[in-house]
Amino acid sequence: MSDVKTYPIPNNFADAHITKAKYEAMYARSINEPDAFYREQAAQFLSFSKPFDSVCEANLLKGEANWFAGGQLNVSVNCIDRHLPARANQTAFIWEGDDPSVAKHISYAELHEQVCRLANVLRARGVKKGDRVCIYMPMIPEAAYAMLACARVGAIHSVVFGGFSPDALKDRILDSDCKVLITADEGLRGGKAVALKVNADKALASCPNTHTCLVVKRTGGKVAWDDSRDVWYHEAVAGVAAQCEPEPMGAEDPLFILYTSGSTGKPKGVLHTTAGYLLHTAMSFKYTFDYKEGEIYWCTADVGWVTGHSYIVYGPLCNGATSLMFEGVPTYPSAARCWEVVDKHKVNIFYTAPTAIRALMGAGNDFVTKTSRKSLRVLGTVGEPINPEAWEWYYHVVGEGRCPIADTWWQTETGGHMLTPLPGAIATKPGSATLPFFGVQPVLLDGEGKEINGVGEGSLAIKASWPSQIRSVYGDHQRMIDTYFSTFPGYYFTGDGARRDADGYYWITGRVDDVLNVSGHRMGTAEIESALVLHDKVAEAAVVGCPHDIKGQGIYCYVTLMAGTEPSDALKKELVALCTKEIGPIAKPDIIQWAPGLPKTRSGKIMRRILRKIAANEIDSLGDTSTLADPSVVDELIENRANR
Ligand code: WT7
Repeated sequence: MSDVKTYPIPNNFADAHITKAKYEAMYARSINEPDAFYREQAAQFLSFSKPFDSVCEANLLKGEANWFAGGQLNVSVNCIDRHLPARANQTAFIWEGDDPSVAKHISYAELHEQVCRLANVLRARGVKKGDRVCIYMPMIPEAAYAMLACARVGAIHSVVFGGFSPDALKDRILDSDCKVLITADEGLRGGKAVALKVNADKALASCPNTHTCLVVKRTGGKVAWDDSRDVWYHEAVAGVAAQCEPEPMGAEDPLFILYTSGSTGKPKGVLHTTAGYLLHTAMSFKYTFDYKEGEIYWCTADVGWVTGHSYIVYGPLCNGATSLMFEGVPTYPSAARCWEVVDKHKVNIFYTAPTAIRALMGAGNDFVTKTSRKSLRVLGTVGEPINPEAWEWYYHVVGEGRCPIADTWWQTETGGHMLTPLPGAIATKPGSATLPFFGVQPVLLDGEGKEINGVGEGSLAIKASWPSQIRSVYGDHQRMIDTYFSTFPGYYFTGDGARRDADGYYWITGRVDDVLNVSGHRMGTAEIESALVLHDKVAEAAVVGCPHDIKGQGIYCYVTLMAGTEPSDALKKELVALCTKEIGPIAKPDIIQWAPGLPKTRSGKIMRRILRKIAANEIDSLGDTSTLADPSVVDELIENRANR
């Protein structure tokens, strides 16, 4: 694609942390002398209470990675305590409430006190190193306190996105056997209450091992109460000391579990550990966003996703930065909200998802241009491929052509940025995540698993261990090996396809497996299918992604009903409700098409390729249908599509 535009490195980024020459030298060193490179980076970014013996021992054939072995450190100390001498009064978090008249600043000293108090509450409730704690919270500072308090006592947190249903919450609590749940009475988003405690009560009814439910009073809404289990957060933290001895943690001790969807089965509990994760998120935060002392940084993600873990909490705090946490949604009270918040808090760095950019773009430029946005210096995007049109709008309208855009490609499993343009070092091209971050060795593999050189397209894999690499799938280590390290032996397989251009830039083409990316939320088609077939009138279901202007991908469901069942709009509504109940509102089908039959091979395998084409209305390019057991099924589906 020779007609692709390139935006040069802006002139005013000459004093960036990483310039082009520096990137090239540092990248080469990170690959050629990783030991020396990471020893230096660890010394710069982390404080160990006991020094490590070795930098990295890894074997991708076995999915093994051991970073900073022998070292000890505590993440909460690295993110809070060690900043206190210089930054006790500096703001750690700016919290912007759902209601635009509500905001507060939390200093590093206050953060320290809040985290220590909650850590003491956890210890008093019997939580020890290695125990699991579930966090099901709205976007309020207590969500971050909870994560850091777990890190302080050595408990493994498992944050479950507040939009997940009681069933989804229950499955995650049971899978990792969480002893404690931390939640709130209600969340508040776009002026509407979210019934978190009600959901938690439903989930906990089937979780006998969860002995404590700590409840933050956010709205004061009415909640049911179980005296033997429920504890008000504000009462508990008031009754304990404001200091708390941190647990010394081994470099490879687990820090957190985060559930994410794969192409098959139940969501996997991706496990991250201590030193490597913290180092990679701290380095990438500083370099990707060119974060400078005193700047205000805002990532709009939810702490329920990995972006919130790495780039609202751990990466920024490890750098002693000021991180803005937003409770609400970008369109409330109006589509100007983000830019009003930018002006109100003088935000310098803004990091969001393509789906939000597209939604705001659709609302019209006036919402943007009526604000100043003068403070903005760097823009970022994450979660899905960004279409060049949205990129250009973000660059020209939001950033007024002066803010470089960091299109960061990474995954829950990678912990932090893998491909990303560093603003002072790498010229950008709309839609490309550009070049690898330090220490990351991407490769494109062909169908035989051979590396493709130069320009080409293939499966994106990573050739060498990086510090924040996934360490395990909680409770099922073999599943990690099977999912990520077996498709291409010796490589980590991402599940994404990518193209490399003549400048070595990477262009992510999307998932090559049955994983959907809906508004930047990752979902397995199998999970939605399992929900649909729970309905007693459904015989079979096949779910694929379809193009969607705002969400990137929509959820397109083909449903075969039990013999004798009449299709109806009422039944469609029931199926939509079922997906919401089983998974959450993010799993709401966009389209349900009745399918008298599904296209299957003679061995009974559903040919999703054909279903994807029909969903995308690319009827003319269905490809070979001759291997189908009954090719007439396809004509029927095409006809039903037109009448749906
Ligand atoms: C999948 C990972 C990374 C944190 C949020 C999502 C897609 C992510 C990009 C990007 C193109 C992207 C990939 C990836 N993705 N960022 N900049 N360009 N695609 O984390 O839920 O683990 O999803 O999101 O398909 O595999 P996740």
